[in-house]
Amino acid sequence: MLINVNGISIDYRDQGAGVPVIFIHAFPLNQTMWDDQLAVLHNRCRIITLDLRGFGQSDAPQGPYLMDQMAADVRVLMSALGIDRAVLVGLSMGGYVSLAFSRNYPDSVHALVLADTRASADTHESRIRRLKSAERAEREGARVIAEDMIPLLLGRTTLESRPSVVARVRAMIESNSPLGIAGAQRAMAERRDSTYILPGIDFPVMIVVGSEDTLTPVTEAESLRSGIRGARLRVIEGAGHLSNMERPEEFNSALLEFIEQLTS
Ligand code: MLT
Repeated sequence: MLINVNGISIDYRDQGAGVPVIFIHAFPLNQTMWDDQLAVLHNRCRIITLDLRGFGQSDAPQGPYLMDQMAADVRVLMSALGIDRAVLVGLSMGGYVSLAFSRNYPDSVHALVLADTRASADTHESRIRRLKSAERAEREGARVIAEDMIPLLLGRTTLESRPSVVARVRAMIESNSPLGIAGAQRAMAERRDSTYILPGIDFPVMIVVGSEDTLTPVTEAESLRSGIRGARLRVIEGAGHLSNMERPEEFNSALLEFIEQLTS
């Protein structure tokens, strides 16, 4: 469904009833990366997914799309759907957006799931790499970005033995607009450090990471957990960075257990 949010058209899905749970996707994917969660969890909660600006069926205006801007898009969508407070589930870039959301709208967060992500800003080297990748997307298109990123996004086990997941990720990346990919890369290069907000977080947090994630490895997830009072950590064995797509059953059961504890 399309909705006008902060002057652009945003595509979203809203299914089920109960505790609202908003899923925020990774880079450079789209909301369909959450299909395995939507299929199972919409019987238990109200699931909202969206294509962030620049991705999927949402508009791709000129970037950069700051994390604060994307968080503001999520907040406006919530208001339009009559939701005051939600569980946010953000994976990787979705985690950066969720942390920006938590910084800017703490009262709107019921609980937070941070999957395969980090709170720190980029290093100088990563920033340079991102700016080059943004130029490459604009010059050569989304296909080369898929080639560059698939070996990083997926774990060894998936690359070797789950061709359908590899094909889904490739199709998602290739369907995105090069302008959108570049706009998000440049914004991630500029993103602020969110580490300082971690000690002040007073809602429940679960951190999830794939055991084979090389972009935001288990050590990164452990340091995120140690920064947030009461946060729990779930390691998904045999998954890489896209843990929810690579091991959906394990991801879903961790998520369901977390959500059920919120409401019990
Ligand atoms: C993602 O999966 O969203 C990206 O790997 C995030 C990043 O490049 O930092």
